[in-house]
Amino acid sequence: MTDMAWNRKHLLDIESLTADEIVTVLDTARAFKAVGERAIKKVPALRGRTVVNLFVEPSTRTRISFELAEQRLSADIINFTAEASSLKKGETLKDTARNLEALNADFIVMRHSASGAPHFLARVLNASVINAGDGAHEHPTQALLDAFTIRERKGKIAGLNVTILGDILYSRVARSDIWALTKLGARVTLCGPSTLVPKTFEQMGCRVVHNMDEAIRDADIINLLRIQHERQRKTMFPSINEYTQLFGLNKARLAKTKPDALIMHPGPVNRGVEIDSEIADSSRSLILEQVTNGLAVRMAVLYLVNGGKGPQELTGN
Ligand code: CP
Repeated sequence: MTDMAWNRKHLLDIESLTADEIVTVLDTARAFKAVGERAIKKVPALRGRTVVNLFVEPSTRTRISFELAEQRLSADIINFTAEASSLKKGETLKDTARNLEALNADFIVMRHSASGAPHFLARVLNASVINAGDGAHEHPTQALLDAFTIRERKGKIAGLNVTILGDILYSRVARSDIWALTKLGARVTLCGPSTLVPKTFEQMGCRVVHNMDEAIRDADIINLLRIQHERQRKTMFPSINEYTQLFGLNKARLAKTKPDALIMHPGPVNRGVEIDSEIADSSRSLILEQVTNGLAVRMAVLYLVNGGKGPQELTGN
């Protein structure tokens, strides 16, 4: 277990975190996962604190996992629904957030289609801001839960070969995963059509290849991403069929990987496009384990930005 290395009010991205800060989140999440296995799963860490879940873009996993994490930490919770709000009448994001703060919100958990929206709120509010995904920029808690899942299953991250496949260009998950995994010493390979995986990503310390067999041959972890049609302004490849033929994970391709290579996907999954249904549901798939671990990781993040003193405080070790 590491010494405490966290002194941040916000979690806005992975890029600005140190490896020690990431490890502190993972160690704290491990302690919270153990708490979740007790008969009484609630702790009073956020009692009397108010969290607003400000989701201005759709979400299933991140939204419900944050909400459950907040309940487990005994926080008061406001779920802000953009569709039913005065954002629809033209109120600005800043005014919306300041109104939430006027109700004594201590934390804003925010998802937004605009890159940088949580950073903007962190500048204009007193509340702590946690980024739950901003445009194509970053999705820090997804990267933290991915790193947690890899470390739990493989016992380490340093030295592993992690291949991320698919729509890297528009993926906030890819960016956050690349930052987290390279900081923790993994070798990251990116693969997909050249229009979606430009060579410029090599500047982030990754290998870029456009042949799937080459990309997955030596992988310990294969992390598949969906095609994000909602962020693409033009067609980036000829057809979904062709994409699946060239970059979809099927049984024949899986047979050529290391026997202990594990499959990850942040969801939502487009079955039959980036991954065969049978593989998504197989014993080599960590997809639902990632969701389970997301709860402990989000509890850890909320606890730390609230000034929590680290895993020792939870375990007594
Ligand atoms: N992984 C992820 O961010 O899923 P949601 O969009 O459902 O939150």
